[in-house]
Amino acid sequence: MGNKIDLKTATSNLNIRGYLKLPVPPKEDLVSEIKRLKIEKNAVILAHYYQNKEIQELADYLGDSLYLAKVAAKEKAAIIVFAGVHFMAETAKIINPTKKVVLPDLKAGCSLADSCPPSDFKKFKEQYPDAIVVTYINCSADIKALSDVVCTSSNAVKVIESIPKDQQIIFAPDKNLGRYLIKETGRDMILWEGSCIVHEAFSFEKIVTLFKQHPNAKFIAHPESESQVLDVAHYVGSTSGLLNFIQEDSSKEYIVATEAGILYEMQKRAPLKTFIPAPVEDDTCACSECAFMKLNTLEKLYLCLEHELPEILLDEDLMRKARLPIERMLELG
Ligand code: 13P
Ligand code: SF4
Repeated sequence: MGNKIDLKTATSNLNIRGYLKLPVPPKEDLVSEIKRLKIEKNAVILAHYYQNKEIQELADYLGDSLYLAKVAAKEKAAIIVFAGVHFMAETAKIINPTKKVVLPDLKAGCSLADSCPPSDFKKFKEQYPDAIVVTYINCSADIKALSDVVCTSSNAVKVIESIPKDQQIIFAPDKNLGRYLIKETGRDMILWEGSCIVHEAFSFEKIVTLFKQHPNAKFIAHPESESQVLDVAHYVGSTSGLLNFIQEDSSKEYIVATEAGILYEMQKRAPLKTFIPAPVEDDTCACSECAFMKLNTLEKLYLCLEHELPEILLDEDLMRKARLPIERMLELG
């Protein structure tokens, strides 16, 4: 289908239409065409658990932020197609800069990453010159470049505990994960006031009501959720932590407070169990779905592979500065 287009053409397409509106094969051929292109172009698809099930099924690697960062660091294929959000693709590029990294939709951002503008964070950091800066991987390359060490929700406790007890710590950008980590580690950290709109949308009252209707269910939550939600959870963990928990735990039913895309993998791993998405405050919206993650579609995945666009391109110096704190995290295992 079609010829490769140049970056300028693609960029203007992106600016005008928000994504590449170029011809795609009929729906029934999309999966086979994507598989063909993957082989033809020596490309791999890395997908986060929050992607639509069709994309999860096509992924060469499916996982949480930490797993995908580890895969990206070692990947040998020529092209990494990141079916996730921008900070994830950016991280892949930073740790494997010679690879071409493409993201199906450049608008697939992250409310949490956006809640931490680099110029404001720089000023914030300057108020605490002796503090070590730990940042959650859900932030921009500019914020990573201002950090000492990065973490994900899978290894955040480990990262914090690797820092000497008398060392002052700034944790950014997620205040909810930060508060959870303060409780878990007993460390008194300085928090940036950022948050994720998806995880803040869960309704504490509705969760309690739902639990009364399902008294045998366990309530499990991602640590980006608000404190009052986390306080009543039977288990708190990253997406991979939640998946491990539902497999090892003996209950039959779970109320799940994280992005609803993960329910697909949960159901696959535990087909006889029941998974109920935690209710959100607003009855009129599917708020437990991350609108950014869901911007990726099979059509865009196809276009992205076919045209090798939109590509993640970053300044060399910025990459060098942002790489160090990611490498420190990866060294911790
Ligand atoms: P994980 O670290 O569990 O993959 O979480 C990523 C994320 O974006 C949560 O909103
Ligand atoms: Fe960002 Fe929240 Fe979406 Fe995760 S779920 S990518 S933190 S907006």
